[in-house]
Amino acid sequence: MEKLLIEGGHQLNGEVRISGAKNSAVALLPATILAESEVTIEGLPNISDIQILKELLRDIGGDVSQNGDEVTIDSSEMVAMPLPNGRVKKLRASYYFMGAMLGRFKKAVIGLPGGCDLGPRPIDQHIKGFEALGAEVTNEQGAIYLKADELIGAKIYLDVPSVGATINIMLAAVRAKGKTTIENVAKEPEIIDVATLLNSMGANIKGAGTDVIRIEGVDSLKGCQHTIIPDRIEAGTYTILAAAKGEEVHIDNVIPTHLESLTAKLREMGVEIEEGTDYLVVRGNRELSSVDIKTLVYPGFPTDLQQPFTALLTQAHGTSIVTDTIYQARFKHVDELRRMNANIKVEGSSAVITGKSPLEGAKVKASDLRAGACLVIAGLMADGVTEVVGINHIERGYDGITEKLKILGANVWREQMTDEDIRMFQNA
Ligand code: EPU
Repeated sequence: MEKLLIEGGHQLNGEVRISGAKNSAVALLPATILAESEVTIEGLPNISDIQILKELLRDIGGDVSQNGDEVTIDSSEMVAMPLPNGRVKKLRASYYFMGAMLGRFKKAVIGLPGGCDLGPRPIDQHIKGFEALGAEVTNEQGAIYLKADELIGAKIYLDVPSVGATINIMLAAVRAKGKTTIENVAKEPEIIDVATLLNSMGANIKGAGTDVIRIEGVDSLKGCQHTIIPDRIEAGTYTILAAAKGEEVHIDNVIPTHLESLTAKLREMGVEIEEGTDYLVVRGNRELSSVDIKTLVYPGFPTDLQQPFTALLTQAHGTSIVTDTIYQARFKHVDELRRMNANIKVEGSSAVITGKSPLEGAKVKASDLRAGACLVIAGLMADGVTEVVGINHIERGYDGITEKLKILGANVWREQMTDEDIRMFQNA
């Protein structure tokens, strides 16, 4: 296993290209189960979550081939193979196999999903949706068993606007008989992307991106070609690090409207951002003012950028308060930032950051994906060398991060972990 080393203090310049959206990709791949013929998805990011999902599709009989960032899945020979253990436990998004397999085979056995440890991450709303469509759902020894004689369209109200539940119920409902209405749904761009793929496959989904999704079930779906949207969280992460250390950084393959909650806050802090049709130019590296943020469902400030943004706030003058209303315990990065001399404390579901405190390179641990991104940004701003262990978390969601940082002029490299690093990594 390797660790990432970052020598801080270098100015960043140049162009970075954003990859396809992880949180779309992890739903688009399972969605192909519903097609029963060849689906090609273009622009998939090269991240470990995608490798695992491709293996899972092969496990159930899918013919999966890859050409660069384009993946073709022939799902005609797939079977309702139970997946109670193993790979499914490695990532959160394996829960999309529940909706997709239920939609196609009317049955599925899927182990409860893993993924980043952000505190409690229930899936009760997914299950409520499947049951409303007529499925019988039981939890036996850590796996969810789903079966239905037939799926029948229903009216479903989500207690919380969950991204995963919205997509999962959509996956099951596209092949249910009759009309399904899902109310209080999440409105994230990734949901629109999945609905676009399903509609290209022949589904009839209306309202993705609004509070109510209406689906008219169809008997079968067919193959198609789909290009994934850019990753707004990866784009946001590079925007933040450009705000921290960028003289002039061009971030290409972006949908700027997806990032408005972030760019508005950065401008409030004093960062100069120019928006084009599919790019941002960030001129950072200035005196920054403190701001408060509260994470909310889209189009509010994304929880997935809360941790990277917190690193930047250590360099703002004054006190900033970051409140996470989505994952109230998503603060494992705070102790690590403290090791780097940041002045932060956690109070309930908020972090209170007092800046500006000069950061110092240290050995730190990425406990989850976005905590890892936060520590990379902190390392770029710190004096000396920062060593980040736990980069397997970062590789779950950031395509080619070392290479992309080098292109921008950062001094970053990888080394094998020492025994001491491994002990630190294991003591979560
Ligand atoms: N929730 C419930 N019941 C449910 C589902 C969710 O109470 O049945 C709650 C959660 O506990 C949380 C809130 O609803 O407080 C939102 O959770 P959501 O279901 O929207 O999250 P998710 O679908 O599990 C996706 C992303 C996360 C991202 C969240 C919020 C994927 C694979 N994951 O998770 O991404 O933080 O939406 O936007 O799409 C990441 O990329 O680092 C990441 C963690």
